[in-house]
Amino acid sequence: MGRVDGKVVLITGVARGQGRAHALRLAEEGADIVGVDVLEDFATNDYAMSTQADLDETVRLVEKLDRRIVVRKADVRDLQSLKTAVDGAVAELGGRLDAVIAQAGICPLANSDAQAFLDAVTVDFNGVVNAVDAALPHLVDGGSVIATGSVAGLITGATDNPKTGAGGLGYSFAKRSVAAFVNDLAIALAPRMIRANAIHPTNCNTNMLNSDIMYRQFRPDLENPTREDALVAFPAMNAMPVGYVEPEDIAAMGLFLVSDESRYVTGMQMRVDAGAYIRNRPQQPAF
Ligand SMILES: NC(=O)c1ccc[n+]([C@@H]2O[C@H](COP(=O)([O-])OP(=O)(O)OC[C@H]3O[C@@H](n4cnc5c(N)ncnc54)[C@H](O)[C@@H]3O)[C@@H](O)[C@H]2O)c1
Repeated sequence: MGRVDGKVVLITGVARGQGRAHALRLAEEGADIVGVDVLEDFATNDYAMSTQADLDETVRLVEKLDRRIVVRKADVRDLQSLKTAVDGAVAELGGRLDAVIAQAGICPLANSDAQAFLDAVTVDFNGVVNAVDAALPHLVDGGSVIATGSVAGLITGATDNPKTGAGGLGYSFAKRSVAAFVNDLAIALAPRMIRANAIHPTNCNTNMLNSDIMYRQFRPDLENPTREDALVAFPAMNAMPVGYVEPEDIAAMGLFLVSDESRYVTGMQMRVDAGAYIRNRPQQPAF
């Protein structure tokens, strides 16, 4: 018996990184996957988004586990096309959805164009709301909504500071809003025994972290820092002496929240952050 046998889970941003890790971990434990990804770059975002080859690889790896996966190219900012994609893919897998992991995201740091602020907000926050909106008609009673925030939304100044520009400000705003959204969404969904929780990662070993723009945030003292240069600085974020967590660490929390083990866990801000939050905000909670 797997921990999520027979469940169907929608994952946004499924082509690589944490999205792929969620898909594989859930498939290992018996779930089938509906996945969407944009597969297009953003002018305001310094590093590239996933490619068709990335998405194909996620499909290959899930199918290797003998689970089903139906994927669609869709932008989480576009509710109508997201709904069409999800409706079609869910129908192909039998018409029910047990959970949604709304986690597609961008991080347009150090871009001072107002468009960077708006892109961060519309992808990282509106995209989460849209994913829930697209999932809800199919979501079974007792289901689970999971949204990916970031410790950047919980720690003042992490990406909302003058160095990270309008894009960083938008990222913090969006992630803070994700935290607030799941809190109140949990109340709205509770009568149907559907829970809503956020996962807040610290630095995670994906393309988002392994990007030149991120290296520059961590090593402002160098003109063209490399990953090796940044590795020295990454641990400054965390209480534990590690620079980052792995996508599989986030997927472990995702699995718990999709599984019935978490059936009474709702409205929670689940940090997988090697102590980043407590390091930056000690003496919590306040009474
Ligand atoms: N990597 C980190 O250090 C870190 C830390 C905290 C939070 N997060 C959050 O984790 C989530 C996953 O990011 P990741 O680390 O796997 O990064 P990633 O860049 O590897 O993956 C993001 C995925 O989302 C897709 N995507 C982006 N915009 C989209 C859109 N509009 N519609 C559909 N798909 C879209 C991309 O193509 C990509 O496949 C994001 O919400 C991110 O903000 C990441």
